[in-house]
Amino acid sequence: MKIHTKAVHAGDRKPAQTQIPVSTPVHFAASWICADQAEQDRIFAAEEKGFAYSRYANPTNQALEEQITALENGFGSLACASGMVALQHALTAALIDRPKRVLCARDIYGATIKLLMDVLGPFGVETTFVDTNDLPAVAAKLTAEKYGVLLMETISNPLLRVGDIPALAQLCRANGAALMVDNTFASPLLVRPLELGAHIVVHSSTKYLGGHGDTMGGLIVSDEEHFETIRRLSRIAGPILGPMECFLTMRGIKTFPLRMERQCRNAQGFAAWLRNQPGVERVFYPDDPQHPDATTIARLMPDGLYGGMVSFELKNAAKPEVFAFLDRLQMVVKATSLGDVHTMVLHPWIASHRDVPPKQKERMGLRENLVRFSVGIEALEDIIADVQQALA
Ligand SMILES: Cc1ncc(COP(=O)(O)O)c(C=O)c1O
Repeated sequence: MKIHTKAVHAGDRKPAQTQIPVSTPVHFAASWICADQAEQDRIFAAEEKGFAYSRYANPTNQALEEQITALENGFGSLACASGMVALQHALTAALIDRPKRVLCARDIYGATIKLLMDVLGPFGVETTFVDTNDLPAVAAKLTAEKYGVLLMETISNPLLRVGDIPALAQLCRANGAALMVDNTFASPLLVRPLELGAHIVVHSSTKYLGGHGDTMGGLIVSDEEHFETIRRLSRIAGPILGPMECFLTMRGIKTFPLRMERQCRNAQGFAAWLRNQPGVERVFYPDDPQHPDATTIARLMPDGLYGGMVSFELKNAAKPEVFAFLDRLQMVVKATSLGDVHTMVLHPWIASHRDVPPKQKERMGLRENLVRFSVGIEALEDIIADVQQALA
């Protein structure tokens, strides 16, 4: 063989090893060689499990999908390139044979609102917003008109409202809508929405599941009813995550329960400290007995595990004072995202909820003086020391 031929063929395409590696390798292959054409024909037809083309299935993706299916107690999962594309794909699958109408929680991530209005809206998907913490209001909407999907977050971004998933699931099931829950803030350590009656769960695995701020990703976990459609449409639309990102996410998930436990403990301690600071107007954290959803929280969340997110309002502060406070922080990472090992802070008014219309911000209760902390795994006293000097 000439050098050009050897360069392309040597070393590659060895038969599978009999020894099993302790972690799933990153399979950087776009396509797979089948035993014969008949096998490839069966795999293309999805009559037989196996690998033909990585848009359909890849062993690294499959390992991550099995992992998150187990954690959320679902039927099956799909690993997607980002949380947003996971939401888009899940909505497409749920709406395919339902009315193209979404009932969306009023309190929700800004880009999710934009996805509904700017991406799906022009294709005929109508969106109505509702306060999902007002069950009679949700019931009135679901019975007055046919909706395809009710979309909500387990713990809302950024005001940390907690909806009654079992009651909302019952309402959806009685009215033919699918309940889709973005479980990014809660994670399956705190709440597993499929066990509570939801049909589809979506994660931005960029956050707590990945946990290290080094990889984007989105995960859809569903019940049996929706899984075939999610998978079938994915084979065509190809929203899939790359194998390297699947590997990193899977590695992140191995330690996620440990990180999350620590983040919950730190966040609870941080919120308790904030409540006694003269420069702080209001603290938002789900352990608060005065929290508007306290009874739902007591039913849905395990004792002491209320999440790693803490939001608070600075006293007598408009944008310039908030900017000055944030600029004084030294250790806390000032960047968009959350759920990482390090503590992070974001100003929702100019970042995650920048494009949310002012009226909707007002209805949510989102004000210019609110900052949102994602509490990390550092020593709590170091987090407090940094925030204390910035508040002074
Ligand atoms: C609750 C929630 N859902 C979805 C997303 C989107 O995820 P991604 O940035 O991975 O696309 C985010 C991002 O911040 C989020 O906070």
